[in-house]
Amino acid sequence: MTSTSYHIPVMLRESLELLITDTEGIYADGTLGAGGHSAGLLDQLGRGARVFGIDHDDEALKEASGNINDSRFTAVKGNFGYISTLLPPDVHGKLSGVLLDLGVSSHQIDDPARGFSFRESGPLDMRMSNLRALSAHDVVNSYSYENLRNILFQYGEERKSGLIAKKIIARRPLETTGDLKACVEEVVRGPHTVKSLARVFQAIRIEVNQELEMLRTGLESAAEMLRPGGRLVVISYHSLEDRLVKNFFKSGNFSGKQEKDFYGNLERPLEPLFTKPRYATEEEISSNPRSRSARLRAAEKAEDAS
Ligand SMILES: C[S@@+](CC[C@H](N)C(=O)[O-])C[C@H]1O[C@@H](n2cnc3c(N)ncnc32)[C@H](O)[C@@H]1O
Repeated sequence: MTSTSYHIPVMLRESLELLITDTEGIYADGTLGAGGHSAGLLDQLGRGARVFGIDHDDEALKEASGNINDSRFTAVKGNFGYISTLLPPDVHGKLSGVLLDLGVSSHQIDDPARGFSFRESGPLDMRMSNLRALSAHDVVNSYSYENLRNILFQYGEERKSGLIAKKIIARRPLETTGDLKACVEEVVRGPHTVKSLARVFQAIRIEVNQELEMLRTGLESAAEMLRPGGRLVVISYHSLEDRLVKNFFKSGNFSGKQEKDFYGNLERPLEPLFTKPRYATEEEISSNPRSRSARLRAAEKAEDAS
């Protein structure tokens, strides 16, 4: 099993227990990272199985490819939002499981050069992938006040979004994550500063990487790629992601409104395996604090689904 300082896999045992229904099946790990989940999966699968590991970040692909040397494994560069175009046509509708372990890896967060961290100053980048054109620099330096405020409010759930957006505009041009941090610190003082910093950095990161749009299309495409009886397992790290996953599993759409067909059956591609999310154990949280915010959900494609 791979568990490097690059990134420690979160809820590994629980996620694999839910994911694996066929030890000779075909699986996709949509968020390969350092390959911890993929390596754990390969350990439990048989000789005829296949695993595709997708990541849009070259550094993650390099790390995972160094960690996993297995002929059953294929690393794929791309965004899981486009999973149906990334995997070969012969596996469409045949996957036994898709795993999504959302967000950024510890490595991405910890490397100041990637611009995700407010602990050490770095360039305002925050792109998880060189496939993206928009950077945090573009967002903070060119978005209108309304746009910035909405992003901080919607994606960061930051109550002082208006004041922080105003401060950012007054301080332009911002060049580093330190400059962005200073804007937040001037508005939010005292014990709440760190939480606001986390919210503002999260919001801009979500905008830069279009994380919620990609999650929506990724969930829909993953459901299509599964075989009947196949499973989708998602680990999310904040309530915006978790809400989309919960609604999609419950109702097949992102508003959560349940629609029924002519015969009174729910029109949803997947059936949730449980309703409340599962969390990491206290033991895991104490050895890997990142797992504290993890919420795991799993759903299965109906056996009679087409
Ligand atoms: C939390 S880490 C996954 C860690 C991995 N499970 C492991 O055990 O090492 C998330 C990874 O998914 C990638 N990622 C996030 N969103 C993605 C997307 N929409 N498409 C492809 N990769 C994505 C990130 O680049 C990062 O490497």
